[in-house]
Amino acid sequence: DAVEKGEYRHYMLKEIHEQPRAIADTLEARIAADHILPNIFGVDTETLLRQVRFVQIVACGTSYHAGLVARYWLEELAGIPCAVEVASEYRYRQTVVPPGTLFVAISQSGETADTLAAMRASRSRGHLGVFAVCNAPESSLVREADLVLMTRAGPEIGVASTKAFTTQLAALALLSLELGRINGLDDATYRRHVSELATLPRVIGETLAMEPAIAALAERFVHKQHALFLGRGTHHPVALEGALKLKEISYIHAEAYPAGELKHGPLALVDDHMPVIAVAPNNQLLEKLKSNLEEVRARGGELFVFADADTGLSLDDTRGQIINIGAGGDFIAPAVFTVPLQLLAYHVAVLRGTDVDQPRNLAKSVTVE
Ligand code: G6P
Repeated sequence: DAVEKGEYRHYMLKEIHEQPRAIADTLEARIAADHILPNIFGVDTETLLRQVRFVQIVACGTSYHAGLVARYWLEELAGIPCAVEVASEYRYRQTVVPPGTLFVAISQSGETADTLAAMRASRSRGHLGVFAVCNAPESSLVREADLVLMTRAGPEIGVASTKAFTTQLAALALLSLELGRINGLDDATYRRHVSELATLPRVIGETLAMEPAIAALAERFVHKQHALFLGRGTHHPVALEGALKLKEISYIHAEAYPAGELKHGPLALVDDHMPVIAVAPNNQLLEKLKSNLEEVRARGGELFVFADADTGLSLDDTRGQIINIGAGGDFIAPAVFTVPLQLLAYHVAVLRGTDVDQPRNLAKSVTVE
């Protein structure tokens, strides 16, 4: 056990630090400098991909959050409408399946009971086929899917998923760009995005160097009972993932909201006991996010903002902190901004003395309903 963890105190920390390698492996032999290589989803799969008019993503837990990010990419880059649903809901309801729907199942283990049941249900609902994004080559999901894109994160031991999530994002970025290319995404945008994706391992490597600052920040959360995470656009799922990590391993109640929904409820909870964590990459929603943050500050909320270095955000008092992240571009920013939130949850949990790798009541893979 100690040997496998190497220099790290927990598997989760080791796996957080493995992300640059895991993502590089996931992209390996799949992209060249500025384009995706042919046949990475299997030989002759382009015929099927050309028929895709709608994408239905189904998953659980952290994998579901990866699906939520992919929805933004698929609609923006490929112009393909996309729905994302948790598997335990999808499997038990009557769904309407538009013609040309590709069913995408995302699962680290490939053995999650609800995800497998949803995939099997999809077979009788008239989909084009099942596309699996999975980290376990021998899994039931991989065996049963029509198209497979393996993440190459290597074994993930910590119950709280980390490297599986960011490699899922890399895989889903490939799918979105490939469907974009097929559906008329302009060549310059396509190449710019592939090139940006290729930098992801390096940018995450740089982000990991912030660990000491985030460990210091964690001290401010040790005695909190609640936390609110905010993000907009692709960073709403990042906020959801940050909140999930914190509650899974530190047992602090955490919620995530799209920042624009703040005034429709959660603002009532904000007082000087409620830390608010916002992810603020430098994209076109920044100005709107800034006004949401002012609403929090006006109510005495303690504000922690993970912001792209050039957002120009500033805080003029001690009730909060700006943590600058080199986002490396809007496209890869969701994966990059996830990393400090993983580290924050990890260090808060360590300070609270919880069982980081085996949190109470949770299992790595939920193979029964
Ligand atoms: C469990 C794990 C989570 C994981 C989820 C889905 O809840 O604790 O970390 O995200 O299952 O697992 P899967 O293997 O399908 O991605």
